[in-house]
Amino acid sequence: MIKKAIIPAGGYGTRNLPVTKVIPKEMFPVGSKPVIHYIVEELKESGIEDILMVVSSHKNLIVDYFDSSLALEAFLASRHKLHLLSEHPIPDIRIHYVRQPYAKGLGDAISFGKQFSGGEPFAVVLPDDLIFSAKQPALGQLIEAYTKYQCSVIGLKETKTEELHHYGVIKGKPVEKGLYRIQDIVEKPKQNPPSHFAAAGRYIFTPGIFEKLETLEADAGGEVQLTDAIKASLRACDVYGKLLEGDRYDIGLQKDYLKLITDMLKTEKNPQ
Ligand code: G1P
Repeated sequence: MIKKAIIPAGGYGTRNLPVTKVIPKEMFPVGSKPVIHYIVEELKESGIEDILMVVSSHKNLIVDYFDSSLALEAFLASRHKLHLLSEHPIPDIRIHYVRQPYAKGLGDAISFGKQFSGGEPFAVVLPDDLIFSAKQPALGQLIEAYTKYQCSVIGLKETKTEELHHYGVIKGKPVEKGLYRIQDIVEKPKQNPPSHFAAAGRYIFTPGIFEKLETLEADAGGEVQLTDAIKASLRACDVYGKLLEGDRYDIGLQKDYLKLITDMLKTEKNPQ
């Protein structure tokens, strides 16, 4: 069973500058909770027990958010208002932290989780991809596919042609409804994307991914790409892609962030 998840949260959030100079993307508010709170809730609902958060020196707000604040608690207690904190409790789950000293890409961030994963399959959840599903949390959907096939699985979303250049895009062979065996994956294709199925920030990996990451060189932009490690894995073992059910918002895209806020207002989905 998948009980551990890595959340890579070390990047600079350059797509969201200038606000990310001081506020990490993961801390953007959605109602009275930050984006990362929803991610941690999804993991908890998917049965995850331990999270490794890969952070960096400018991400201390995340660490503080999931910690207690004795001063605030004392202040609220003195005014009989402690309930204000317990109405929105922080998910009860173990969170471990490691710092990624240089922003050398998603692949580099994941490699910091080798010891944490303990040689077992594990999840990777990108904190800027919020997916709301009324039926089953997005990661839970992937865990179900992993349990059946016992191979790495990537969460996919059907994506408009003009947005595919933001994502890893797969070429896949249908295996069953909504499930594909991945034949190729291209990171941020500038032209001729191999399909409309984009990697949507949810992954289950078998431990072999670490060996692939170790052999990779950084790309021209100085980043070790997770997509390259996935591509390298395809030769050794099957990797599946699972179409995820649920509404996806890429917080890295301003229009998605604003849409999330307006959708929540429209549907009165309560952004607690
Ligand atoms: C990363 C991955 C990409 C994936 C995307 C999902 O890109 O490299 O394959 O589709 O996340 O959000 P990034 O958003 O870090 O540029």
